[in-house]
Amino acid sequence: MDSCPGVGPAESLPGVEAVVLVGGLGTRMRPLTLSAPKPMLPTAGVPLLTHLLGRIRAAGVRHVVLGTSYRAEVFATHFGDGTALGLELEYVVEEQPLGTAGGIRNVVSALTEPDVLVFNGDVLSGLDPAEVIQTHRKAGADVTLHLVRVPDPRAFGCVPTTPDGQVLGFLEKTDDPPTDLINAGCYVFRREVIDSIPVGRAVSVERETFPGLLAAGAHLQAHVDASYWLDLGTPAAYVQGSADLVRGLVPSPALPGPVGEALLLPGASVHPDARVGGGSVVGADAVVQGGAQVFGSVLMDRAQVGPGADVQRSVLGIGARVGAGAVLHDAVVGDGAVVGARCELREGLRVWPGVVLPDNGVRFSADV
Ligand code: GTP
Repeated sequence: MDSCPGVGPAESLPGVEAVVLVGGLGTRMRPLTLSAPKPMLPTAGVPLLTHLLGRIRAAGVRHVVLGTSYRAEVFATHFGDGTALGLELEYVVEEQPLGTAGGIRNVVSALTEPDVLVFNGDVLSGLDPAEVIQTHRKAGADVTLHLVRVPDPRAFGCVPTTPDGQVLGFLEKTDDPPTDLINAGCYVFRREVIDSIPVGRAVSVERETFPGLLAAGAHLQAHVDASYWLDLGTPAAYVQGSADLVRGLVPSPALPGPVGEALLLPGASVHPDARVGGGSVVGADAVVQGGAQVFGSVLMDRAQVGPGADVQRSVLGIGARVGAGAVLHDAVVGDGAVVGARCELREGLRVWPGVVLPDNGVRFSADV
């Protein structure tokens, strides 16, 4: 069970509780999400979700409801009633995933406060949730949305607003976005608005609820924030987010060690002739042998990197092994899989759990 030593007795934020959506299948993150739901993937030494819960607690919110579905039991087993994090945690399970709005509607009976903070459980950010509440109350909005600016908004749902921040529309991925503001996956709902979401079927906030509310004349307000933001939806984003946490680019009260070029968890062993950096995590009882280089990567517990191997921006699942002289750039190796000596995996290649690649078995280039 995690705790957040950096979090003191925060001022409370009256009239507010939080919902975190953690029920998605995490298909883009497979095979890592075959054994753990995405919000539970170890990220700088603790589950990704622990960083978000620490941030919610630091803002003064105590009651948090997790909307679970895929591998629902894992959350309660790990976090229990939330006491260790200074929270009161509740769990509501969807038998079938109900989508992002359906998941919010499904937890409504566990809510009692007038303002409800809602978070996607796979976002890493430096946002202060209390500031979104402030914007919401000042505007007297029905829903307030956290928006961020991105250099290339084409891959996201973009959200045009008026100069004073009223939301004008929701545009799904488009080649010609009218704004660089995108939906960052954190909202404040007036509680009655949640009551209006249809029950018993899958509903999406982005595709149905928000456009429907706008069409009905509701007041949707933007809260634009310039602090760190990353959606950890893909392996590339996951290794980036983990490295950014380790290097202190995104502050988190839950980080289990000092910030630096690498985070070594208890029992990790790095040979003096190995180089480990770029925000890498070496998991509990993981081993990096002599002459190996590990940069910007996540080595989960009991992973092993052989002599002279070169591992960059990659993920090694629990107990995965990489042989001598192997090259892994932007690769994912599932739990217990073995990458034989001198194999070369690049450009997003994924090895499924338990698979054994023999020595010299897979090359990307011909220059052996
Ligand atoms: P992909 O399958 O790779 O798209 O990942 P995902 O299933 O996590 O979907 P997405 O990244 O769009 O989800 C954003 C957040 O909402 C994540 O924290 C999910 O766990 C959560 N989420 C997505 N769908 C559901 C759902 O049906 N119910 C609940 N409770 N949460 C959901």
